[in-house]
Amino acid sequence: MARRIVLDCDPGHDDAVALLLAHGNPEVELVAVTTVAGNQTLDKVTWNARSVATLAGITGVPIAAGCDRPLVRDLTVAAHIHGVSGLDGTRLPEPTAELDPRHAVDVIIESIMAADPGEITLVPTAPLTNIAMAMRREPRIVPRVREVVLMGGSCTRGNITPAAEFNVAVDPEAAAAVFAGEWPVTMVGLDLTHQALTTADVLARIAAIGTPVATAVVELLTFYRRSYQADQRMSDPPMHDPCAVARVIAPDVMAVRDAFVAVETQGRWTSGMTVTDFGRTPNTLVATTLDVPRFWDLVIDALTAIGTPVVT
Ligand code: BDR
Ligand code: CA
Repeated sequence: MARRIVLDCDPGHDDAVALLLAHGNPEVELVAVTTVAGNQTLDKVTWNARSVATLAGITGVPIAAGCDRPLVRDLTVAAHIHGVSGLDGTRLPEPTAELDPRHAVDVIIESIMAADPGEITLVPTAPLTNIAMAMRREPRIVPRVREVVLMGGSCTRGNITPAAEFNVAVDPEAAAAVFAGEWPVTMVGLDLTHQALTTADVLARIAAIGTPVATAVVELLTFYRRSYQADQRMSDPPMHDPCAVARVIAPDVMAVRDAFVAVETQGRWTSGMTVTDFGRTPNTLVATTLDVPRFWDLVIDALTAIGTPVVT
């Protein structure tokens, strides 16, 4: 049976690929797509989620907008990576995928409470504001969630600062609540995602699919590649967010280690750091090593399976 997931995202180039991977792979079922301010403002990332859903023919999946800012801090966006729209690089279709009128936090809670205990997996690929709000608003969701497989954090280095990864750094208070929650958490952080490099070979394989979806992905990732070259001095950009979806689809696509992870919320220079202790009673599975060829096969197979949906 397909694993049922709620994808909480901020598209975002790699979020868009995560959404396409979840849609195109039969091992997961999208129960809901929820958005949160992060890579860009809430209105932009929500439009982007609906547009990508339209492009790919994703229907019957609620798409709901959530928190427009972190719990206590001002919003920091990542226009330096994702552009002014949050998804620069291609001309996306005007969305026909409807916006669910409910708040994303309610959609998350209702999706979990309506399902059997242990059925729903949360896959956050953005600041953890919506997830922390949902835990606080309805604590009964915590023991009902199968697991939280999040893209965020790092046990070695950061990207938005030397110490902190973007998703955790934007809302460290929310991340601290999620890591401290009494539910299984898998941290798919930079240590892992920096192995998922979007090489020229990968782009050529996606281009060879030849569908409008694949063409749009190549255009998006070409922009994303240039951003990483200019801002992060990396020649091939890391495909962060689909790694979390891949972990749900095929857990053995990556190795994990038990660790204790705490989020630094006070540090002047280290705010948002995911302080990782492999020697202490664990609260997290930390992803360490990726089966890179298998990961890209999953992504490319999903893009191929989506085919050529009609853009309405
Ligand atoms: C994370 O930050 C965002 O810019 C990406 O979408 C990803 O979720 C990587 O640090
Ligand atoms: Ca993201």
